[in-house]
Amino acid sequence: MMKNLYITTPIYYPNAKPHIGTAYTTVICDVVSRYKRLKGYDVRFITGIDEHGQKIEESAKKNNVTPQQWVDKMKEDFVNLWDKLNIDYNYFVRTTDSNHEYTVDTVIQKVYDNGKIYSGEYIGKYSVSEETFVTESQLVDGKYMGKEVIDMAEKSYFFKLSEYQDKLLEFYENHPDFIKPVSRRNEVISFIKQGLQDLSISRTTFDWGIPLKLEKGHIVYVWFDALNSYLTAAGYGSELFNEFWNNGEVVHVIGKDILRFHAIIWPAMLMAAGYKLPDVLAVHGWWTIDGEKMSKSLGNVVDPLEEIEKYGLDQFRYFLLREATFGQDADYSKKAVIQRINSDLANDLGNLLNRVLGMQAKYFDSVVYKSDVKSELDNELIELWKETLFTVDNMYNDYNFSEMLKSIWKFISRLNKYIDESEPWALYKEGNIERLKAVLYNLIEGISKVALLVYPVMPDSSQNILYQLGLDIKVSSIKLGDYTEWGIYSDGNKLGESKVLFPRIEVPKIEFEEELVIQNPIDIEDFNKVEIKVVEIKKVYKVPESDALLRFIVDTGKELRQIVSGIAKHYKNEQELVGTKVMAVLNLKSIELKGIVSQGMLLTTTEKKKTKLVVIDENVKVSTIIK
Ligand code: ME8
Ligand code: MG
Repeated sequence: MMKNLYITTPIYYPNAKPHIGTAYTTVICDVVSRYKRLKGYDVRFITGIDEHGQKIEESAKKNNVTPQQWVDKMKEDFVNLWDKLNIDYNYFVRTTDSNHEYTVDTVIQKVYDNGKIYSGEYIGKYSVSEETFVTESQLVDGKYMGKEVIDMAEKSYFFKLSEYQDKLLEFYENHPDFIKPVSRRNEVISFIKQGLQDLSISRTTFDWGIPLKLEKGHIVYVWFDALNSYLTAAGYGSELFNEFWNNGEVVHVIGKDILRFHAIIWPAMLMAAGYKLPDVLAVHGWWTIDGEKMSKSLGNVVDPLEEIEKYGLDQFRYFLLREATFGQDADYSKKAVIQRINSDLANDLGNLLNRVLGMQAKYFDSVVYKSDVKSELDNELIELWKETLFTVDNMYNDYNFSEMLKSIWKFISRLNKYIDESEPWALYKEGNIERLKAVLYNLIEGISKVALLVYPVMPDSSQNILYQLGLDIKVSSIKLGDYTEWGIYSDGNKLGESKVLFPRIEVPKIEFEEELVIQNPIDIEDFNKVEIKVVEIKKVYKVPESDALLRFIVDTGKELRQIVSGIAKHYKNEQELVGTKVMAVLNLKSIELKGIVSQGMLLTTTEKKKTKLVVIDENVKVSTIIK
């Protein structure tokens, strides 16, 4: 029987462009979808945008357009990015679509008919940026999550969330695997145990939302609206819904920021409306940028389009999944991205492919031959392949993508080591051609298997590797199970054209020359002998019968001195120098120039034949030491 998977991203707010955080969640869903399809699942993968609410209304207002115009425009950014990121989703839900309004109306009516909705008045604080009601105890310095809150006092309908405390605890008791990773589960349970309050589910002071059919003048609270979009996108009201929601595995992938909405409100809503609950909440951590919180005001928001442009699509997808340990926070930095690309992709995988294709070309004119000459090394390799397949599958079930990739890379390292251990070049020299055939065959077979396993994360590169291996396989339409056995590469097949898979990223030039040879070096003691200080020019005189020299009287802080300097030609009006602060060497032996004593030297620069005094900022005190 066909197994069905229904997997969702959060329905993002289109108040700003998608960024690396939203890209991460969406790539995860794409990767899981591709893997499960490969495993033979029928997958429905959906994403979409959360278009209602006060936050969107405010963004539209700021941009001088209607909310509908605003979300229509912003939708393009999301669709475009998902396209560029090679996201193979089945449906894009918009909460302004009429099929979604139908879902919301129907679900609310069911909850109402079951006696779980009543009317009242909400008085309290509200965070527009998080679209959530907040209690006094959640405020820090009057703010919620660092953002201003507003006071609300308005008529509202309420959902009897408080009645679901025990039912939710029972649910968590019976479904220990509901939240992944399991560390997040305790957080939810202890929150529920503190007691749940009824939830306000309608607003009356603005109107950008789905009208609440229970009473005119109310619109549905944006979360009570948005969560239902998971039902809409599952094909609510059609046979699809039965296939995917009722009879499929339902997985919501979210960030930790919206855990409570998904782990408490959403299950309670579904219970109240009489629907099956999701099977898995996969909750990932937070991306920071160079160690800092990503925010518009810091101006450090990473645009995935630029990253793809700089590093390549598959490189970017790989980095996101490999770098973050699922569930934990991770940091995005240029250095880390380049490091992963150069080491994991270019060195480990790219070089492996190059080396093997190179040898196959050199020894066998790129034709791959089967051979019976086996060795214990081959068995080890094949055993590790089986283990890898098994680990990869387990890690997918745990949403542990970094370990999943690590296990593939362990196999890649084993292939690299297999080359070193088998020494194909020596086999060739010895004339051990049958063994040489076998070694290269195993390498080709191993790389083709790696290509299949990296497909979900790097679809284009996977196809590219298979192409270079001379294989005509369209991974998106195969079943992995048909390709897991060792030794299916056909005898006598010819490799394709070899190309660089992952170009190395040149690390930006180092800032200084490490190997520099210093010419005519002096010791620091030598330098310390020179006494340079800030002095102020008090008087300037021309020197009679000299068009080169100027005579200065300077204040050193201790005394007035006379210093002669050969800069007369470079100043049209030397009097403008009076009052400026300059640098003087004060422990030079006195000399006489044109019969005038000079008790030091003023420092100058000469550029394009113009010599000028080095002027010091007027705020620096006279007699300040320069060293
Ligand atoms: O919450 N690191 O939408 P939203 C990792 N509309 N993930 C991040 C991230 C970061 N720095 N920033 C955002 C909403 N995300 C609601 C959802 S669902 C019925 C309604 C990702 O636009 C992460 O997946 O604020 C997070 O949960 C989501 O974007 C929040 O998106
Ligand atoms: Mg948010």
